[in-house]
Amino acid sequence: MKSIWTEDTEIRKREALKEDMETEAVVIGAGLAGILTAYYLGQAGIRTVVLEADRIGSGQTKNTTAKITSQHNLLYEKMIRTFGHGMAAHYARANEAAIDEYERLIAEKGIACDFTRGPACLYSRTKEQLLRQEAEAAKSLGIEASFRTDCELPFAVAGVTLFNRQARFHPLRFLGRMAEEVEVYEGTRVLKVKGGRVETDRGCVTAKHIVFASHFPFVNVPGYYFARMRQERSYVVALKGAEEIEGMYLGIDRDGLSFRVQGNLLLLGGGSHRTGMNKENGARGCKYEMLRRRAQEIYPGSQEVAHWSAQDCMTLDALPYIGRFSRRNPGWYVATGFGKWGMTTAMVGARVLTALISGRDCPEADIFSPRRRFTARAAGELAIHGAYTVKGLIKHLLPSGCPNCPHMGCRLEWNPDEQSYDCPCHGSRFDGEGRLLDGPAQTDCRRRER
Ligand code: FES
Repeated sequence: MKSIWTEDTEIRKREALKEDMETEAVVIGAGLAGILTAYYLGQAGIRTVVLEADRIGSGQTKNTTAKITSQHNLLYEKMIRTFGHGMAAHYARANEAAIDEYERLIAEKGIACDFTRGPACLYSRTKEQLLRQEAEAAKSLGIEASFRTDCELPFAVAGVTLFNRQARFHPLRFLGRMAEEVEVYEGTRVLKVKGGRVETDRGCVTAKHIVFASHFPFVNVPGYYFARMRQERSYVVALKGAEEIEGMYLGIDRDGLSFRVQGNLLLLGGGSHRTGMNKENGARGCKYEMLRRRAQEIYPGSQEVAHWSAQDCMTLDALPYIGRFSRRNPGWYVATGFGKWGMTTAMVGARVLTALISGRDCPEADIFSPRRRFTARAAGELAIHGAYTVKGLIKHLLPSGCPNCPHMGCRLEWNPDEQSYDCPCHGSRFDGEGRLLDGPAQTDCRRRER
């Protein structure tokens, strides 16, 4: 189950950390957010090293559909109501600027990564009014947005919210090239962070600035990110023989799908559900089978050439957490909670954190701050998230063939699509042998006989 990105890209292997080290900044995690942050810190004259438990790009960067867009589902109309027009404009501007910055970097360095501009669209079969409102809201924030009643998808829609001049690319080719400009230690697992000391299984790194860019922060306290985020899984099939489309599409209906082209392939995505909830809330049944069925309905005769899945961190108010990690540790920073928009938000995160660390003015920082205003929506999500955690912990006491999660003890669920044990509480995952796949857990789990 490898993504098409991993099939044709080899990123140069790096050595593990050999000895204790002192530097100005250390970044934990060599995905897109980590590598870009280290790159911009280096450009700002701050010596930075990156520590990676596995390989560069071995986390979520390789599993994305690689859309670079400021269109993040239905967001702007709600954001203006909740945070005000000024804050929403900062969010929109930071994301639009991130697309331009990708284009600039790729041109400057001559990176062959299929960067292509094109429209990004939300579609619905019924919710015309919501799409109209979103287009108006986005336009008022300076985004080139419009509402349409027709589109190139081969089925009828009630409407489309279209953002112009968005982009797509090959994420690993870009990442591999950018990583050449950064000092990275692979195979170096961070075990503990205390003050300015990062302890790994290979030695200790001391730094003034520490950036957590490891998808889900593994430190529970301070920060309490485990209580402020859930993880979601979603699925993709790559199809040969499907009609070409120019735009990237995302359905906002309950059964909505995601569409984008890469070369002669069409990437069809969908089936999102809370990690570990494989049998509840309509998540029943094999997700790949559902996508294959839909593929044959929409593109009869198309053939699947690859399939893979992604894991995304979802925050309480649907905006990422980028900024200072907590009040208690002034030298710690975090970039997480990117939702389904990791490519664009990785760039936003890298630029915001570089500005904060190098003491530059950053008007966009407030809307991304992990300490931003707590909204009514966030309160509702917090209650739901808490209920899942309580349920997972109660299940831990009941007899089952599934092991418990080493993070905080919730009962793991078997995921037949991925042949993995997944945690419904905060989304850690383990393979069939109990080996750690995704955090926040930091260790393997003890497998029981199924
Ligand atoms: Fe927190 Fe499993 S991820 S208990």
